[in-house]
Amino acid sequence: MKYFLRIFVSILVLSFIAGCDNMPPGKDNIDEKADQLLEQMTLEEKVGQMTQITLLEITKERENDSDPLVIDEKKLEEVMAKYHIGSFFDNGGAANSIENWHEIITKIQDASKNNTRLNIPVMYGIDAIHGANYTLGATIFPQSIALAATRNRDLVRKGAEITAAETRASGIPWNFNPVLGMGRNPYWPRFFETFGEDVYLTSELGREYIEGSQNSSLGKEYSVAACMKHFLGYSFPLNGKDRTPALIPDRTLREIFLPPYEEAVKAGVMTVMLNSSEINGIPVHSDYNILTVLLKKKMDFRGLVVSDWQDIIRLHTRDRVADTPEEAVRMAVMAGVDMSMVPNNYSFFEILVKLVNDGVVPVERINDAVRRILRVKLETGLFENPYPDKDLLKMFATEESEQINLEAARETITLLKNRDEILPLNKKNKVLVTGPTADKLMVLNGGWTITWQGNREDLYPAEKKTVLEAIQDKIGKSNVIFSKGTDFNKEINISSTVRKASGADYIIVCLGESPYCETPGNINDLTLEAPQIKLVNELKKTGKPVITVLLEGRPRVLKSAAENSDAIIMGYLPGLEGGRAIADVIFGDYNPSGILPFSYPKHPAGFTCYDYKPIESYEQNQYEPLFPLGHGLSYTEFEYSGLTLSDTVFTGKGLLSVSVNVKNRGIREGKTAVELYITDIYGSVSRPVKQLKRFEKISLKSGEEKEVKFTVNKEDLKFIGRKSSWITEPGEFIIEIKGLKKKFTFKSEK
Ligand code: BGC
Ligand code: BGC
Repeated sequence: MKYFLRIFVSILVLSFIAGCDNMPPGKDNIDEKADQLLEQMTLEEKVGQMTQITLLEITKERENDSDPLVIDEKKLEEVMAKYHIGSFFDNGGAANSIENWHEIITKIQDASKNNTRLNIPVMYGIDAIHGANYTLGATIFPQSIALAATRNRDLVRKGAEITAAETRASGIPWNFNPVLGMGRNPYWPRFFETFGEDVYLTSELGREYIEGSQNSSLGKEYSVAACMKHFLGYSFPLNGKDRTPALIPDRTLREIFLPPYEEAVKAGVMTVMLNSSEINGIPVHSDYNILTVLLKKKMDFRGLVVSDWQDIIRLHTRDRVADTPEEAVRMAVMAGVDMSMVPNNYSFFEILVKLVNDGVVPVERINDAVRRILRVKLETGLFENPYPDKDLLKMFATEESEQINLEAARETITLLKNRDEILPLNKKNKVLVTGPTADKLMVLNGGWTITWQGNREDLYPAEKKTVLEAIQDKIGKSNVIFSKGTDFNKEINISSTVRKASGADYIIVCLGESPYCETPGNINDLTLEAPQIKLVNELKKTGKPVITVLLEGRPRVLKSAAENSDAIIMGYLPGLEGGRAIADVIFGDYNPSGILPFSYPKHPAGFTCYDYKPIESYEQNQYEPLFPLGHGLSYTEFEYSGLTLSDTVFTGKGLLSVSVNVKNRGIREGKTAVELYITDIYGSVSRPVKQLKRFEKISLKSGEEKEVKFTVNKEDLKFIGRKSSWITEPGEFIIEIKGLKKKFTFKSEK
């Protein structure tokens, strides 16, 4: 009886849900609904949807940026009535409390409801780059560059799910992340926002991030629209400075820079943000070939294209490809931009309405843009639930999320050097802790944390642990001597720090970078500042073992400090649990398993990516990084053996199977990332010396052995030939896993 009752209730509930307006419409209905709305909209309403404005435009001035933000209701109502704004964004100066966010979003949706005709919800956007970093108390993850070191797809996806859940719990349905440009120029100050220098790694982790954001396993109500950015080529400025030109030949663009975006589009990414700068002489915001021909037509991207900050007007004011503001708007909209991050005036609106009325911009282009915007609003369920949902707060900053964050931070940590296996340290030792990154939380997090630049230490949650505090917790305060030694670029007390070393068994020197974001992070020299290098070198003279911890968003050249460090721990920007994770690694409570997602350069001008061309390592030229991509040590020893291919001849039909045995020969449990590389020995176009094609993170107990299997297909062998199209060529290839190599011959069947 009970059983039948349950079925009856389930049927009731199901039919209620089916008939309920509270569910986002299915994919098929979305186009229809968007079109129905579009038919009712005036030109002004349409252009309003295409306009994105910063939060500070509609808030009251406040004395202190830590005071809650208050919406200027009168101004907001006027703006909504006059411009029908489709989107607001940004944090208003610093992270807001979740209650403050709820108030802000509620007032915005109220204003939209009460002052516009069609009741189209506003879509709020935010940079939740490594967690919901603009909501106070959120779970703040390692930055992408650090996550890439884990080679752990699952962790990246879980991190994205938690970020999405906490963003949505804040009332925000749109996240301007992930960055799918690759970090192939370590000078670039946004290097830390990338997944490193490899195209396959970036494609894989980008897809995980997008799926975790948009299709969270926690449920649709916890999902947000992701935004792949910055399309295309932004990450590779020739001179290493942010927002400067990239010169990328067509072949490199298609083989290296485009695939992560193609993978993201296949994964259904809903939005894209553009490269603020220019490639090959053309500002991307004005490039019809890139935006419409390539992205919208060839790649079949159906989502919305948003500009970056002020980048439409900058076609006039900065790039001077448009001789008037009107021409800038015309160029960008006709190139394919759907929404303008204006963001602090209404010029875009005024100009675009006029351009359409004058017949300069056809209304079809406007309709296409608005259709794309409405689709995202429909897909994210905004029409059903435009308001913050208090029920979602239960998933905000949970203990479980903190635990996953700690796991993620631990798995990012990359042990670069461990002379005579001095690490892990015994907890009975006395240590001297020193250096500019030892006792700050901001250095674990970098830009996009609480504030844009991430450098307001006073706003960080005091209960989180710096490296110093985590070490003190681990071995007791009385076993830790602390002396600052030097600031980032200014000596403080190096000689007294050296004297204090006599009381310690080991020296832990924490070096790295002060937080930065975007253009303010530009540097003229990749070398770590001299006082930091000097600190290591002076301490080394004491004869005590020196353990160097690096907290930095890009690989800073270490010069003599590399040789003078007995151990080097790369922490990247490991997030708010990073201090604990580093202490866990130093004292052996966690066995490190991170591996570099980029080549760590030895010289400031010597950087070459691992997938270099033969000519880059020939005669006097050498690929000689300090540490190569994929490098990372463990406290246990993994033995690789028995690399086997299913055939020595591959016809391109079906798959070539590859297997390898990995055994943990040490006494500790550990994780290792198994990476498969392919080398095309001869090609009609010079081929990279090797390319990463597969990876898998595995965990092995002491003595345990596992067979790891991969499959390779014809697609993995393709490249752009001399006639500028994708081809495969018959010939010999090498499969390589951890130094083991096997050849196969590729003979394409006609
Ligand atoms: C950055 C973007 C960011 C946007 C909104 C721009 O300056 O380049 O990455 O999403 O600001 O904050
Ligand atoms: C915003 C950034 C933006 C920058 C541009 C900051 O206030 O938070 O997203 O890129 O201003 O100047």
